[in-house]
Amino acid sequence: MQDPSAIELRLPDESDDSLRALVEEAIRKADELPPHHRALANWARTEPRLGQAVCEVIYRLDRGTLRVATRNQESLSTAPDLLGSDSATHIAPERWLVHGWIQSAINLYFPLAQLETYRAGELEFFDKIPPKRDLASAGIRVVPPGIVRYGAHVEKGCVVMPGYVNIGARVGTGSMVDTWATVGSCAQVGKGVHLSGGVGLGGVLEPAGARPVIIEDGAFIGSRCVVVEGVLVEEEAVLGAGVVLTASTPIIDVTGANEVVHKGRVPARSVVVAGVRPRRFPAGEYLLPCALIIGQRSESTDRKTSLNAALRDFSVSA
Ligand SMILES: CC(C)(COP(=O)(O)OP(=O)(O)OC[C@H]1O[C@@H](n2cnc3c(N)ncnc32)[C@H](O)[C@@H]1OP(=O)(O)O)[C@@H](O)C(=O)NCCC(=O)NCCS
Repeated sequence: MQDPSAIELRLPDESDDSLRALVEEAIRKADELPPHHRALANWARTEPRLGQAVCEVIYRLDRGTLRVATRNQESLSTAPDLLGSDSATHIAPERWLVHGWIQSAINLYFPLAQLETYRAGELEFFDKIPPKRDLASAGIRVVPPGIVRYGAHVEKGCVVMPGYVNIGARVGTGSMVDTWATVGSCAQVGKGVHLSGGVGLGGVLEPAGARPVIIEDGAFIGSRCVVVEGVLVEEEAVLGAGVVLTASTPIIDVTGANEVVHKGRVPARSVVVAGVRPRRFPAGEYLLPCALIIGQRSESTDRKTSLNAALRDFSVSA
């Protein structure tokens, strides 16, 4: 099996800025080629340094020294909603910055990587991106058949039950990816987050700069929730079981005298449950799904969402 982190495949001495310049050059070269040549990574054959730059970006994503989106430390939870933002590269402009060149590097990596057979006992796989290695030294517990792909970063002290963490994704320390939960490419999950069984966080690689799903520190995402299309779930928010959030889903705060509608963003510490609302169409009135903010996180919510520490503790100090 090839080792995608082999030093001869990469450019370990380049700064992040110089990697960015090389990746941008690779993007230009790839764009100049007809699509079938792009898929063969011809740009990397003629200029191996560009291919090495792409591999170095994936290595740094894997090690966690680069990430697809970064939090602006100066921002507060007063960020505006996604829809209505006129920038394609920001989630709630002051709050998160998306690094489109890193998403492009992931896209460029696929044609570079070799298809190979991987084996786990009697099981066989045929793919380009191997599973992450050295889990014990990284301090991550991965329960079979959970998979963290090379190029995703899972911080020390996380538990990945039989779920899936895709390339470019990031999971913060002390978080749990429970059984059949999937963290899509580039999705950003904060510290101490619980992704309950069957949660689906959407992935995004294109267009470059497109907003990934972001789940901030301390959030609890209930069983079988789906969060897609760059929705931002702010700190310590709670999504009740089965909530589906797309960028179009009205997230309606019903706790005051008048409803307040958010789109693309769940405000910090909100408790959100699945709802429906009437919508009139030419054929008549129908009930469409929505999400309802029914309150703020309280002690009772915490009791219902608190996790059994014994299940998570595996003697790794985060
Ligand atoms: C959202 C949740 C945490 C409850 O939050 P809470 O702040 O404790 O809310 P409460 O139970 O006090 O409920 C407040 C009101 O909202 C209603 N409500 C709460 N959760 C609801 C839900 N998921 N759907 C519909 N209504 C809900 C309650 O019936 C209650 O109404 P009432 O005052 O008329 O009785 C809980 O419903 C939930 O979904 N938990 C996630 C469970 C899960 O996925 N576990 C993962 C295991 S791996």
